[in-house]
Amino acid sequence: MKKILALVLALALVISCASALAADLVGVSMPTKDLQRWNQDGDNMEKLLKEAGYDVELQFASNDVPTQLAQVETMIDNGAKVVVIAAIEGSSLGQALDKAAEKGCKVIAYDRLLMDNENVDYYATFDNYKVGTVQGTYVKDALDLDNAEGPFVIEFTAGDPGDNNAGFFFNGAFDVLKPYIDAGKIVVKSGKTEFADVATPGWKSETAQKRAEDILSSYYADGSDLDAWVCSNDSTAYGVINALEANYTGKWPIVTGQDCDKPNVKLMIAGKQSMSVFKDTRTLAAQVVKMIDQILKGEEVEVNDTTTYDNNKKVVPSFLCEPVFGDVNNYKELLIDSGYYTEDDLK
Ligand code: BGC
Repeated sequence: MKKILALVLALALVISCASALAADLVGVSMPTKDLQRWNQDGDNMEKLLKEAGYDVELQFASNDVPTQLAQVETMIDNGAKVVVIAAIEGSSLGQALDKAAEKGCKVIAYDRLLMDNENVDYYATFDNYKVGTVQGTYVKDALDLDNAEGPFVIEFTAGDPGDNNAGFFFNGAFDVLKPYIDAGKIVVKSGKTEFADVATPGWKSETAQKRAEDILSSYYADGSDLDAWVCSNDSTAYGVINALEANYTGKWPIVTGQDCDKPNVKLMIAGKQSMSVFKDTRTLAAQVVKMIDQILKGEEVEVNDTTTYDNNKKVVPSFLCEPVFGDVNNYKELLIDSGYYTEDDLK
Protein backbone atom coordinates (compact mmCIF):
# COMPACT_ATOMS: atom_id res chain seq x y z
CA MET A 1 0.00 0.00 0.00
CA LYS A 2 2.79 2.37 1.05
CA LYS A 3 4.65 1.53 -2.14
CA ILE A 4 1.62 2.37 -4.28
CA LEU A 5 1.17 5.67 -2.44
CA ALA A 6 4.82 6.55 -2.96
CA LEU A 7 4.51 5.68 -6.63
CA VAL A 8 1.42 7.82 -7.04
CA LEU A 9 3.14 10.72 -5.27
CA ALA A 10 6.25 10.37 -7.42
CA LEU A 11 4.12 10.30 -10.54
CA ALA A 12 2.23 13.41 -9.44
CA LEU A 13 5.56 15.13 -8.80
CA VAL A 14 6.87 14.21 -12.25
CA ILE A 15 3.67 15.44 -13.92
CA SER A 16 3.65 18.73 -12.03
CA CYS A 17 7.35 19.32 -12.73
CA ALA A 18 6.80 18.55 -16.40
CA SER A 19 3.92 20.97 -16.63
CA ALA A 20 5.89 23.62 -14.76
CA LEU A 21 8.71 23.13 -17.25
CA ALA A 22 6.46 23.08 -20.34
CA ALA A 23 7.08 26.28 -22.25
CA ASP A 24 4.23 28.61 -23.13
CA LEU A 25 3.01 28.19 -26.69
CA VAL A 26 2.95 31.20 -29.03
CA GLY A 27 1.15 31.00 -32.38
CA VAL A 28 2.48 32.99 -35.32
CA SER A 29 0.25 33.34 -38.37
CA MET A 30 1.77 34.83 -41.54
CA PRO A 31 -0.21 35.59 -44.71
CA THR A 32 1.86 33.91 -47.40
CA LYS A 33 5.21 32.48 -48.38
CA ASP A 34 4.94 34.14 -51.81
CA LEU A 35 6.47 37.41 -50.72
CA GLN A 36 9.98 37.45 -49.35
CA ARG A 37 9.25 39.67 -46.40
CA TRP A 38 6.71 37.35 -44.73
CA ASN A 39 9.17 34.44 -44.87
CA GLN A 40 11.70 36.63 -43.11
CA ASP A 41 9.15 37.85 -40.58
CA GLY A 42 8.08 34.26 -39.82
CA ASP A 43 11.66 32.99 -39.52
CA ASN A 44 12.72 35.90 -37.28
CA MET A 45 9.74 35.44 -35.00
CA GLU A 46 10.28 31.71 -34.70
CA LYS A 47 13.99 32.09 -33.98
CA LEU A 48 13.60 34.84 -31.38
CA LEU A 49 10.68 33.15 -29.65
CA LYS A 50 12.57 29.87 -29.38
CA GLU A 51 15.61 31.70 -28.03
CA ALA A 52 13.33 33.29 -25.41
CA GLY A 53 12.20 29.82 -24.37
CA TYR A 54 8.77 29.63 -25.98
CA ASP A 55 7.19 26.85 -28.00
CA VAL A 56 6.21 28.17 -31.40
CA GLU A 57 3.56 27.21 -33.93
CA LEU A 58 4.35 29.09 -37.14
CA GLN A 59 1.93 28.89 -40.08
CA PHE A 60 1.71 30.53 -43.50
CA ALA A 61 -1.77 30.78 -45.02
CA SER A 62 -1.13 30.86 -48.80
CA ASN A 63 -2.98 34.19 -49.00
CA ASP A 64 -6.22 32.28 -48.39
CA VAL A 65 -8.49 33.76 -45.71
CA PRO A 66 -10.30 30.51 -44.66
CA THR A 67 -6.89 28.81 -44.30
CA GLN A 68 -5.64 31.59 -42.05
CA LEU A 69 -8.82 31.48 -39.96
CA ALA A 70 -8.50 27.70 -39.49
CA GLN A 71 -4.79 27.95 -38.66
CA VAL A 72 -5.33 30.60 -35.99
CA GLU A 73 -8.23 28.68 -34.45
CA THR A 74 -6.05 25.56 -34.27
CA MET A 75 -3.28 27.50 -32.54
CA ILE A 76 -5.79 28.65 -29.92
CA ASP A 77 -7.19 25.12 -29.55
CA ASN A 78 -3.64 23.88 -29.06
CA GLY A 79 -3.34 26.15 -26.04
CA ALA A 80 -1.47 29.16 -27.42
CA LYS A 81 -1.12 31.85 -24.77
CA VAL A 82 -0.54 34.54 -27.40
CA VAL A 83 -1.24 34.58 -31.14
CA VAL A 84 0.63 36.96 -33.43
CA ILE A 85 -1.24 37.57 -36.66
CA ALA A 86 -0.27 39.30 -39.90
CA ALA A 87 -3.72 39.20 -41.50
CA ILE A 88 -4.43 38.54 -45.16
CA GLU A 89 -7.69 40.45 -44.85
CA GLY A 90 -7.88 42.61 -41.73
CA SER A 91 -11.55 42.13 -40.95
CA SER A 92 -11.99 38.41 -41.68
CA LEU A 93 -10.66 36.79 -38.53
CA GLY A 94 -13.37 37.84 -36.06
CA GLN A 95 -14.38 34.26 -35.25
CA ALA A 96 -10.81 33.38 -34.24
CA LEU A 97 -10.39 36.59 -32.25
CA ASP A 98 -13.59 35.87 -30.31
CA LYS A 99 -12.31 32.38 -29.58
CA ALA A 100 -9.00 33.82 -28.37
CA ALA A 101 -10.82 36.11 -25.94
CA GLU A 102 -12.94 33.20 -24.63
CA LYS A 103 -9.84 31.12 -23.97
CA GLY A 104 -7.76 33.93 -22.49
CA CYS A 105 -5.31 33.95 -25.39
CA LYS A 106 -3.86 37.40 -26.12
CA VAL A 107 -3.80 38.73 -29.67
CA ILE A 108 -1.09 40.85 -31.26
CA ALA A 109 -1.72 42.25 -34.73
CA TYR A 110 1.56 42.03 -36.59
CA ASP A 111 2.39 44.66 -39.21
CA ARG A 112 -1.26 44.84 -40.40
CA LEU A 113 -4.05 45.89 -38.07
CA LEU A 114 -6.85 43.42 -37.29
CA MET A 115 -10.08 45.27 -37.95
CA ASP A 116 -13.66 45.35 -36.69
CA ASN A 117 -13.14 43.32 -33.53
CA GLU A 118 -12.45 44.39 -29.96
CA ASN A 119 -10.36 41.35 -29.10
CA VAL A 120 -7.13 42.79 -30.42
CA ASP A 121 -4.79 43.47 -27.51
CA TYR A 122 -1.80 45.11 -29.19
CA TYR A 123 -0.49 46.14 -32.57
CA ALA A 124 3.16 46.22 -33.62
CA THR A 125 4.08 47.68 -36.97
CA PHE A 126 6.17 50.32 -38.70
CA ASP A 127 4.97 53.88 -38.93
CA ASN A 128 2.87 53.23 -42.02
CA TYR A 129 1.92 56.83 -42.72
CA LYS A 130 5.60 57.75 -42.54
CA VAL A 131 6.42 55.09 -45.14
CA GLY A 132 4.17 57.04 -47.51
CA THR A 133 5.58 60.44 -46.59
CA VAL A 134 9.12 59.15 -47.19
CA GLN A 135 8.04 58.10 -50.70
CA GLY A 136 6.19 61.35 -51.40
CA THR A 137 9.02 63.48 -50.07
CA TYR A 138 11.51 61.62 -52.23
CA VAL A 139 9.48 62.49 -55.34
CA LYS A 140 9.05 66.08 -54.19
CA ASP A 141 12.79 66.52 -53.65
CA ALA A 142 13.89 64.60 -56.74
CA LEU A 143 11.69 66.74 -58.97
CA ASP A 144 12.50 69.87 -56.94
CA LEU A 145 8.81 70.66 -56.90
CA ASP A 146 9.21 73.85 -54.88
CA ASN A 147 11.52 75.44 -57.42
CA ALA A 148 11.19 73.74 -60.79
CA GLU A 149 8.57 75.03 -63.15
CA GLY A 150 6.93 71.77 -64.20
CA PRO A 151 4.35 70.62 -64.83
CA PHE A 152 5.43 67.08 -64.00
CA VAL A 153 3.53 63.96 -64.90
CA ILE A 154 2.90 61.35 -62.21
CA GLU A 155 0.89 58.16 -61.73
CA PHE A 156 0.01 56.28 -58.54
CA THR A 157 -0.22 52.61 -57.68
CA ALA A 158 -1.38 51.66 -54.18
CA GLY A 159 -1.85 48.42 -52.24
CA ASP A 160 -4.56 46.00 -51.22
CA PRO A 161 -7.87 47.53 -50.05
CA GLY A 162 -8.23 44.66 -47.56
CA ASP A 163 -4.99 45.71 -45.85
CA ASN A 164 -5.44 48.62 -43.46
CA ASN A 165 -1.81 49.65 -44.08
CA ALA A 166 -2.45 50.35 -47.74
CA GLY A 167 -4.50 53.49 -47.08
CA PHE A 168 -1.85 54.83 -44.70
CA PHE A 169 0.90 54.35 -47.28
CA PHE A 170 -1.12 55.99 -50.03
CA ASN A 171 -2.29 58.90 -47.88
CA GLY A 172 1.22 59.54 -46.59
CA ALA A 173 2.57 59.91 -50.13
CA PHE A 174 -0.49 61.68 -51.50
CA ASP A 175 -0.58 64.26 -48.70
CA VAL A 176 2.95 65.37 -49.61
CA LEU A 177 2.13 65.65 -53.33
CA LYS A 178 -1.45 66.95 -53.19
CA PRO A 179 -0.56 70.65 -52.88
CA TYR A 180 1.41 70.39 -56.14
CA ILE A 181 -1.44 68.55 -57.84
CA ASP A 182 -3.85 71.23 -56.67
CA ALA A 183 -1.48 73.93 -57.95
CA GLY A 184 -1.20 72.26 -61.37
CA LYS A 185 2.51 71.56 -60.95
CA ILE A 186 1.81 67.83 -61.00
CA VAL A 187 -0.48 66.33 -63.60
CA VAL A 188 -1.91 62.83 -63.24
CA LYS A 189 -2.74 62.00 -66.85
CA SER A 190 -4.91 59.00 -66.05
CA GLY A 191 -6.89 61.22 -63.68
CA LYS A 192 -6.72 58.46 -61.04
CA THR A 193 -5.91 59.98 -57.67
CA GLU A 194 -8.36 58.18 -55.39
CA PHE A 195 -7.08 55.22 -53.35
CA ALA A 196 -9.93 52.99 -54.59
CA ASP A 197 -8.98 53.67 -58.22
CA VAL A 198 -5.26 53.02 -57.84
CA ALA A 199 -5.43 50.07 -55.38
CA THR A 200 -3.93 46.66 -56.16
CA PRO A 201 -5.96 43.74 -54.74
CA GLY A 202 -3.68 41.25 -52.99
CA TRP A 203 -0.65 43.49 -53.64
CA LYS A 204 -0.06 41.36 -56.73
CA SER A 205 2.71 42.34 -59.14
CA GLU A 206 0.70 40.98 -62.11
CA THR A 207 -2.32 43.10 -61.19
CA ALA A 208 -0.17 46.23 -60.82
CA GLN A 209 1.50 45.41 -64.14
CA LYS A 210 -1.82 44.97 -65.97
CA ARG A 211 -3.15 48.30 -64.68
CA ALA A 212 0.11 50.05 -65.60
CA GLU A 213 -0.02 48.55 -69.10
CA ASP A 214 -3.54 49.86 -69.57
CA ILE A 215 -2.53 53.34 -68.42
CA LEU A 216 0.58 53.38 -70.59
CA SER A 217 -1.32 52.36 -73.70
CA SER A 218 -4.13 54.86 -73.05
CA TYR A 219 -2.08 57.92 -72.07
CA TYR A 220 1.58 57.48 -72.96
CA ALA A 221 1.60 55.52 -76.21
CA ASP A 222 2.43 58.76 -78.07
CA GLY A 223 5.90 58.68 -76.47
CA SER A 224 5.11 61.38 -73.94
CA ASP A 225 7.13 61.44 -70.73
CA LEU A 226 6.24 60.31 -67.30
CA ASP A 227 8.23 61.83 -64.41
CA ALA A 228 7.30 59.54 -61.55
CA TRP A 229 5.28 56.48 -60.69
CA VAL A 230 4.53 56.40 -56.98
CA CYS A 231 4.20 52.74 -55.98
CA SER A 232 3.31 51.85 -52.41
CA ASN A 233 5.58 48.82 -52.15
CA ASP A 234 8.10 46.68 -53.98
CA SER A 235 5.72 44.01 -55.31
CA THR A 236 3.62 46.67 -57.05
CA ALA A 237 6.75 48.56 -58.20
CA TYR A 238 7.96 45.31 -59.72
CA GLY A 239 4.79 45.03 -61.81
CA VAL A 240 4.90 48.67 -62.86
CA ILE A 241 8.56 48.39 -63.90
CA ASN A 242 7.73 45.31 -66.01
CA ALA A 243 5.01 47.31 -67.73
CA LEU A 244 7.33 50.29 -68.30
CA GLU A 245 10.01 48.07 -69.79
CA ALA A 246 7.62 46.54 -72.28
CA ASN A 247 5.27 49.42 -73.10
CA TYR A 248 6.93 52.77 -72.57
CA THR A 249 9.37 54.73 -74.68
CA GLY A 250 9.69 58.06 -72.84
CA LYS A 251 12.41 58.99 -70.34
CA TRP A 252 12.68 56.59 -67.41
CA PRO A 253 10.56 57.83 -64.49
CA ILE A 254 11.21 57.86 -60.76
CA VAL A 255 9.70 54.70 -59.28
CA THR A 256 9.17 54.35 -55.52
CA GLY A 257 8.79 51.18 -53.45
CA GLN A 258 8.88 49.69 -49.98
CA ASP A 259 10.47 46.64 -48.29
CA CYS A 260 13.86 46.46 -50.03
CA ASP A 261 12.94 43.04 -51.42
CA LYS A 262 15.89 41.38 -53.14
CA PRO A 263 14.54 41.68 -56.72
CA ASN A 264 13.84 45.37 -56.09
CA VAL A 265 17.26 46.11 -54.63
CA LYS A 266 18.61 44.60 -57.85
CA LEU A 267 16.30 46.95 -59.77
CA MET A 268 17.68 49.88 -57.76
CA ILE A 269 21.23 48.82 -58.60
CA ALA A 270 20.18 48.57 -62.26
CA GLY A 271 18.71 52.10 -62.12
CA LYS A 272 15.11 51.01 -62.74
CA GLN A 273 13.71 51.63 -59.26
CA SER A 274 14.70 54.87 -57.56
CA MET A 275 14.14 54.09 -53.89
CA SER A 276 12.55 51.78 -51.42
CA VAL A 277 11.62 52.04 -47.76
CA PHE A 278 13.48 49.59 -45.57
CA LYS A 279 11.53 48.08 -42.72
CA ASP A 280 13.94 45.88 -40.81
CA THR A 281 11.84 42.82 -40.00
CA ARG A 282 14.36 41.88 -37.30
CA THR A 283 13.46 45.04 -35.37
CA LEU A 284 9.74 44.34 -35.59
CA ALA A 285 10.11 40.71 -34.57
CA ALA A 286 12.30 41.67 -31.58
CA GLN A 287 9.72 44.23 -30.46
CA VAL A 288 6.91 41.69 -30.69
CA VAL A 289 8.86 39.11 -28.68
CA LYS A 290 9.43 41.79 -26.06
CA MET A 291 5.66 42.47 -26.00
CA ILE A 292 4.94 38.76 -25.58
CA ASP A 293 7.38 38.51 -22.67
CA GLN A 294 5.79 41.53 -21.03
CA ILE A 295 2.27 40.14 -21.52
CA LEU A 296 3.11 36.72 -20.14
CA LYS A 297 5.06 38.08 -17.18
CA GLY A 298 2.18 40.41 -16.34
CA GLU A 299 4.37 43.46 -16.89
CA GLU A 300 3.35 46.72 -18.51
CA VAL A 301 3.53 46.34 -22.27
CA GLU A 302 5.64 48.95 -24.03
CA VAL A 303 3.72 50.93 -26.66
CA ASN A 304 4.46 54.31 -28.27
CA ASP A 305 1.17 55.15 -29.98
CA THR A 306 -2.27 55.10 -28.39
CA THR A 307 -4.18 57.30 -30.83
CA THR A 308 -3.59 56.37 -34.47
CA TYR A 309 -4.82 52.84 -35.02
CA ASP A 310 -8.58 52.66 -34.61
CA ASN A 311 -9.86 49.28 -35.84
CA ASN A 312 -13.51 50.46 -35.84
CA LYS A 313 -14.08 48.89 -32.41
CA LYS A 314 -11.23 50.34 -30.38
CA VAL A 315 -8.00 52.23 -30.65
CA VAL A 316 -5.43 49.47 -30.43
CA PRO A 317 -2.33 50.29 -28.33
CA SER A 318 0.54 50.15 -30.79
CA PHE A 319 4.27 50.10 -31.07
CA LEU A 320 5.48 51.77 -34.26
CA CYS A 321 9.00 51.01 -35.50
CA GLU A 322 10.85 53.47 -37.71
CA PRO A 323 10.96 52.94 -41.47
CA VAL A 324 14.21 53.97 -43.17
CA PHE A 325 14.89 55.44 -46.60
CA GLY A 326 16.89 53.18 -48.92
CA ASP A 327 18.39 53.71 -52.37
CA VAL A 328 21.36 52.77 -54.50
CA ASN A 329 23.65 55.01 -52.43
CA ASN A 330 23.00 53.55 -48.99
CA TYR A 331 21.82 49.98 -49.66
CA LYS A 332 25.23 48.47 -48.88
CA GLU A 333 25.36 50.00 -45.43
CA LEU A 334 21.67 49.43 -44.77
CA LEU A 335 21.31 45.89 -46.04
CA ILE A 336 24.69 44.23 -46.38
CA ASP A 337 26.73 45.72 -43.52
CA SER A 338 23.79 45.14 -41.18
CA GLY A 339 23.74 41.45 -42.16
CA TYR A 340 20.23 41.62 -43.65
CA TYR A 341 21.47 40.34 -47.02
CA THR A 342 24.74 38.99 -48.33
CA GLU A 343 26.42 40.46 -51.43
CA ASP A 344 25.50 37.21 -53.21
CA ASP A 345 21.80 37.73 -52.43
CA LEU A 346 21.89 40.84 -54.59
CA LYS A 347 23.81 39.44 -57.58
C1 BGC B 1 3.25 45.48 -45.54
C2 BGC B 1 4.24 45.77 -46.63
C3 BGC B 1 4.10 44.76 -47.75
C4 BGC B 1 2.66 44.60 -48.19
C5 BGC B 1 2.48 43.46 -49.15
C6 BGC B 1 1.87 45.41 -46.14
O1 BGC B 1 0.92 45.19 -45.14
O2 BGC B 1 3.31 46.46 -44.53
O3 BGC B 1 5.54 45.76 -46.09
O4 BGC B 1 4.83 45.17 -48.87
O5 BGC B 1 1.83 44.36 -47.08
O6 BGC B 1 2.74 42.24 -48.56
